[in-house]
Amino acid sequence: MAGQYGAYQNEIYLQGLGEQVPPFTTDPTRLEAAAREKLDDGPYGYVAGGAGSGATVRANREAFDRWRIVPRMLTDATQRDLATTVLGTELPSPVLLAPVGVQSIVHPDGELATARAAAAMGVPMVLSTASSNTIEDVAEANGDGTRWYQLYWPNDNEVTISILARAKAAGFSTLVLTLDTWTLAWRPTDLDQAYLPFIRGIGTAIPFADPAFRAKLAKSPEEDPTAAILQWIPTFTGTDHHWDQLPFLREHWDGPIVLKGIQHVDDARRAADAGMDGIVVSNHGGRQVDGAVAALDVLPEIAAAVGDRVDVLFDSGVRTGADVLKAVALGAKAVLLGRPYVYGLALGGEDGVRHAVRGILADLDLTLGLSGNRTLADLSSDTLRRT
Ligand SMILES: Cc1cc2nc3c(=O)[nH]c(=O)nc-3n(C[C@H](O)[C@H](O)[C@H](O)COP(=O)(O)O)c2cc1C
Repeated sequence: MAGQYGAYQNEIYLQGLGEQVPPFTTDPTRLEAAAREKLDDGPYGYVAGGAGSGATVRANREAFDRWRIVPRMLTDATQRDLATTVLGTELPSPVLLAPVGVQSIVHPDGELATARAAAAMGVPMVLSTASSNTIEDVAEANGDGTRWYQLYWPNDNEVTISILARAKAAGFSTLVLTLDTWTLAWRPTDLDQAYLPFIRGIGTAIPFADPAFRAKLAKSPEEDPTAAILQWIPTFTGTDHHWDQLPFLREHWDGPIVLKGIQHVDDARRAADAGMDGIVVSNHGGRQVDGAVAALDVLPEIAAAVGDRVDVLFDSGVRTGADVLKAVALGAKAVLLGRPYVYGLALGGEDGVRHAVRGILADLDLTLGLSGNRTLADLSSDTLRRT
């Protein structure tokens, strides 16, 4: 729809006539600072922090800065369409909400607020296995929205099968298997505060409500939370899986499967060879391997190698509409927003998520048009210059 997203700009200026300014900043570079003022040290550090020295968090941003858009003029870009097709389904824009766990540490409504905001905006959400709300409650909050389920692969096949069945029954269409966080990286911000939500029983709602997980406990998580947490740790962390095990997931998931955390072209090829439907080129927002390559830096080579065999999605460092445009121009079919919507959630719950995401979509729409493009298909590496 022409100008559909950019119209958020008009809405804001018109409200200004009634002396109203937006409740939260529209400046993506100030969103984090605004959330910082609102959050306690533990939750803020958990969201903003990265692995080790933070080198990869910084690298993700620097990689975007190295690419510049070269605008074209007189291209009749008045009418624009941001639609894209991902895994055979048309999406109104190339944006999804990344799986982010433990959202209740930044706002009491947590994933429920995110699910409502996503449905209202027509933006698909990806629900984390580390959610602070159950699969079923998030599905209900998301209503007829498009939802994908992100799996942290349990070290227990019965639990895996049970969780997948619940996600399917609750209307999650696509499985996103996250590969890069089978154990937690060295994260000094969290370590210095000895702050880890999971061992406080936050982010464990999905397994704690799971019949297969509960069946293995002597007492229910309600009766003995400590025992349940002690069972959670080895079930969900510490065990790496192997490519050979992917058929097991295929057998128990009736729908597309996307591998998240791909950073090497050979792994991308291997995902395609394994019959996967998509990949997310991602370094988990710099939270796992300190010193890892910026995700954007490996996107072009991966898209060139496998873009015709699997759908290539991208995340890590996307903050602005221009960033979305750059990632699409470099080969991504769509991007996942991470921290920006979580800061929005911290600032204003459902409204805050909507504000943060609508801002990025409006910025994308306007930047697309002002750089002389009408659709995402107009974008290519020719749209950009590396500086
Ligand atoms: C606080 C936080 C929690 C996250 N939790 C998960 C998770 O549970 N599962 C997952 O696959 N990725 C998780 N991620 C990674 C995001 O899905 C995404 O890859 C990352 O946020 C992208 O980086 P960016 O936010 O800097 O753009 C998390 C990221 C953050 C910031």
